[in-house]
Amino acid sequence: MAARSSEPTSGLVLGIESSCDETAAAVVRAGRAILSSVVHSQVEEHAPFRGVVPEVAGRAHLRALMPAIDQALAQAGVGLDELAAVAVTHRPGLIGSLLVGLSAAKALAFARGLPLVGVHHIEAHAYAATMEHEVEYPLLALVVSGGHTALYRMSSPTELAKLAETLDDAAGEAFDKVASLLGLSYPGGPAISALARAGDPRAFALPRYRPKDGGLGFSFSGLKTAVLYALRGQDASAPPPAPEAIPRRADLAASFQEAVVDVLVAQSLAAAEAEGLGTITVTGGVACNARLRERMTAAAAERGLRAVFPSPRYCADNAAMIAGQGWHLLRAGRVASWDLDALAR
Ligand code: KG4
Ligand code: ZN
Repeated sequence: MAARSSEPTSGLVLGIESSCDETAAAVVRAGRAILSSVVHSQVEEHAPFRGVVPEVAGRAHLRALMPAIDQALAQAGVGLDELAAVAVTHRPGLIGSLLVGLSAAKALAFARGLPLVGVHHIEAHAYAATMEHEVEYPLLALVVSGGHTALYRMSSPTELAKLAETLDDAAGEAFDKVASLLGLSYPGGPAISALARAGDPRAFALPRYRPKDGGLGFSFSGLKTAVLYALRGQDASAPPPAPEAIPRRADLAASFQEAVVDVLVAQSLAAAEAEGLGTITVTGGVACNARLRERMTAAAAERGLRAVFPSPRYCADNAAMIAGQGWHLLRAGRVASWDLDALAR
């Protein structure tokens, strides 16, 4: 049985996001007007482990979700009876974490007789770029986060076709792993970006992976290994040096960041050109990176293209993007049934 599919008169959608380490709820009107966006970050809970621990994440979502939903509704000044739908991330992500958000969304929607809309986390990241900016479709969407690095041809707010993705690590994951090698705090992206400001991006010659067949894919594991060799010499089994004993740490951070940015910019431009697209949107946590924003904007402008970035708070995980894209899915009649599943992939 499908949940009720109503004419979405109020345009108000409650979005719920719990796929990884952020518990988020938001109220958005008509896909764009963000009335509230509450994000409870679990960074402190995961920092000691230098990465997201699924069991820790699931428990933290359970504690934080209902308060986040209450807060999002209160800040928006919206009651449950005014909503047109409840939209929730149901894939991809940590299964236990997804289930917390999905169960809450189903309970709320069922109790209030509201349509339930299932949202794809990565596609919602791509949608985020269109909330604060007017864009023309079709466009090229680069999504770069801790779990994903992929290029999409986006032909409407809800229609995305994947063109390419990473063969191994996501760009954000590479930032996190290299930060750990450099003895920097988790999450690694902001820490590397801060340290890189004092470094020379040309100090270390690090590899820039481009597929031999001229394809559009990405790979970051070789780059991470190259940083490891730069740190330990050719004997990779040698113990890692203590953080304070790492020579030219800022230079290494800057050189690593530059290599990632070079590849992201080159592959995005190649994809835009191959697909004949004039706009490149960049979203996901790594889109907060100042060097990426600067280089992509300049490189796109040089070719007469436009690069679009959401504000940093809507680059990282949030529920406004879920509520926003959820509204378009609702209007397209893509209402979920009550047996909507959480999917890890
Ligand atoms: O989109 P997001 O919040 O969560 C996922 O869906 O993965 O992205 C988190 C990732 C982390 O790997 C983090 O290190 C990275 O985004 N990140 C950055 C920056 N800020 C966050 N990477 C590079 N530079 C940044 N300034
Ligand atoms: Zn994300």
